[in-house]
Amino acid sequence: MKKLILGLGAVALVWGAQAAGAEVTWQKDIKPIFDKQCAGCHGTGSPEIEEFDKDKKKWTDNSVGMRMNSYGTMISFVGWPDTGALMRRLDDGSGRADKKAGNMYENLGSSDAERKANLDIFKAWVGNWNLKRWKDVTKDEMNSLKITY
Ligand code: HEC
Repeated sequence: MKKLILGLGAVALVWGAQAAGAEVTWQKDIKPIFDKQCAGCHGTGSPEIEEFDKDKKKWTDNSVGMRMNSYGTMISFVGWPDTGALMRRLDDGSGRADKKAGNMYENLGSSDAERKANLDIFKAWVGNWNLKRWKDVTKDEMNSLKITY
């Protein structure tokens, strides 16, 4: 019940923001969450994904992720070439049969309420939250991405 109330609260917040005409944007909403929760591992000190991919293990063993600290790099993990990567990693697993959350979900906050609230903001920003890869995603699904700057 508590979970349901928290969930409804978060939905109401997102609705409220949208009803007020406050569109969720990278600059206003996502970048501040990124700076707080993600930049330590995906910020200026992190390699471009191409560099990261040359030696994934080395970087991962040192808790260094690939750089995604600008609008341009971030949306490459939403639309293309890493279609759906952001959604797969941040998803809380609630829509999956095994309920398994993506491995970056835990980084969304220090409490379950904070993680949920931040996930809802990411969801509102992406617009069409689905976990598909490039080979499975449809043109309509790509067209309904929001990802406003
Ligand atoms: C403690 C370090 C750390 C934090 C904090 C962190 N990440 Fe990561 N992240 C990594 C590492 C290391 C990898 C690469 C290893 C892996 O794939 O799991 C990664 C991988 C990813 C990927 C996969 C990209 C791809 O090409 O598949 C995404 C997306 C991602 N992180 C998003 C985020 C977001 C968004 C946040 C903030 C909410 C975040 N991460 C916070 C360390 C971190």
